[in-house]
Amino acid sequence: MRVIFEGRGEGTVPYDTTILQAARLLDVPLTHYCGGNCTCGTCRVGIAEGADRLSEPRGNEQMVLGEQRARQGDRLACQARLQGPVVVKIPDWF
Ligand code: FES
Repeated sequence: MRVIFEGRGEGTVPYDTTILQAARLLDVPLTHYCGGNCTCGTCRVGIAEGADRLSEPRGNEQMVLGEQRARQGDRLACQARLQGPVVVKIPDWF
């Protein structure tokens, strides 16, 4: 799957790779304090293109994101899996 991290890097990763795993594979820095366990929310990303080509939110993802962020279409990089080409926006956190 082709994935572009706007302004930070891009590349191709296997189908069903999480956005966080893709960032690691492509050496794109992406904050993930809880190590990908869906508890911290620091891996939150925006989706500029291809939101419909990600796996559906499951489990605690929407709760950890918060209602407003979830409604805006943000995703947790450790939970969202790439099922087609996607353009990801990594927020500037700190
Ligand atoms: S890395 Fe903590 S929620 Fe994704």
